[in-house]
Amino acid sequence: MKAIRVGLLGLGTVGSGVVKIIQDHQDKLTHQVGCPIVIQKVLVKNIDKKRDVELSRDILTTNVYEVIEDPEVDVIIEVIGGIEETKQYLLDALRAKKHVVSANKDLIALYGSELLACAKENGCDLYFEASVAGGIPILRALEEGLASDRITKMMGIVNGTTNFILTKMNKDKAPYREVLKEAQRLGFAEADPTADVEGLDAARKMAILARLGFSMNVALDDVKVKGISQVSDEDISFSKRLGYTMKLIGIAQREGQKVEVSVQPTLLPDHHPLASVHNEYNAVYVYGEAVGETMFYGPGAGSMPTATAVVSDLVSVMKNMRLEVTGRSFVDPQFEKKMKSPTEIFAQQFLRIHVKDQVGSFSKITSTFSERGVSFEKILQLPIKDNEDLAEIIIVTHHASEADFIEILQQLNDLEVVHEIKSTYRVEGNGWS
Ligand code: HSE
Repeated sequence: MKAIRVGLLGLGTVGSGVVKIIQDHQDKLTHQVGCPIVIQKVLVKNIDKKRDVELSRDILTTNVYEVIEDPEVDVIIEVIGGIEETKQYLLDALRAKKHVVSANKDLIALYGSELLACAKENGCDLYFEASVAGGIPILRALEEGLASDRITKMMGIVNGTTNFILTKMNKDKAPYREVLKEAQRLGFAEADPTADVEGLDAARKMAILARLGFSMNVALDDVKVKGISQVSDEDISFSKRLGYTMKLIGIAQREGQKVEVSVQPTLLPDHHPLASVHNEYNAVYVYGEAVGETMFYGPGAGSMPTATAVVSDLVSVMKNMRLEVTGRSFVDPQFEKKMKSPTEIFAQQFLRIHVKDQVGSFSKITSTFSERGVSFEKILQLPIKDNEDLAEIIIVTHHASEADFIEILQQLNDLEVVHEIKSTYRVEGNGWS
């Protein structure tokens, strides 16, 4: 049987993992797809660089079009990252009738629909399992394992860097800046950590998940994003006292035809399954109408875990090639996109405020909530060390609309007895689903 030939764009961390898996698992892969896989050409930045994979120097090139336009290449694997230029490479590859596997969440979150449409027009496959939660086969789970169900909610810890930082802050009671520095020293956080800590990386993954899970063209701009850089060690210790664990959670939720998608630091009850996902691990909790609760857990990044997702996509393409059914994976979204408005998004909220410790303060605060019909689930009042004029009040509300909660915060800000609103967080997962 004729070998299938791969053009690899990028030989960095993930690219080297892809080469290792193709080489080390050749027997299993050949058995599964019925023919050998050959790495035909590889795009690199520097041909002379020393690498920990064995590849003939002759197949390395610094010219991307030598890979894309190689007539022998059947499938392009893209692991170079980047957005605009890379999009053009992949469009050119698809137009040259090459199937594409990409690990690029930035690109897929922004241009996934356009690339999928181009793939379909050209009878080609485009797979991107590695773009969300690295080694966890979550896109396949949504598209295949749960294809028969209607998904109503997905909650994900889909960023390893922030999960590592929050886990450390929780365990060591250390401030954010200190933990971030340690994470950078250990190689868990990038030198420029902005995309991770400000939630953008997680937002990209949630946009992709929401699109697949809800069959709706959710755009990156539809995802509300708040990162973890403002989370204080006090927020973590007070929430702990109330039985919560802080995580950066992506939430995609559907009610009827309308959806909400957000990424924000969120408090989960300590017994929630996502609360026990520690360090750099990822997990996605999926609720389906028929299946109920499911959870997918594993490494969200790293050379070999991400490479398994990439090579599994390659296997899918190869099976489609053999069955002559390529170019059919793109199903147009079933539903028109309808995002919920702030009056339609309901959640419990955690609020930490410093108030003047004087007669009547508390009742003025509670009236602000009761006037908008919002009640409390938990309240804690404590003295503030070294400042006897102020008191610390922590409130966890019952479900309130986002619109009401924003209004309440504005009114609290205007109250003379309120010294400062220290922080607010969404609370999720009481009773789990
Ligand atoms: N920066 C990402 C993370 C890597 O921290 O999870 C995988 O997308």
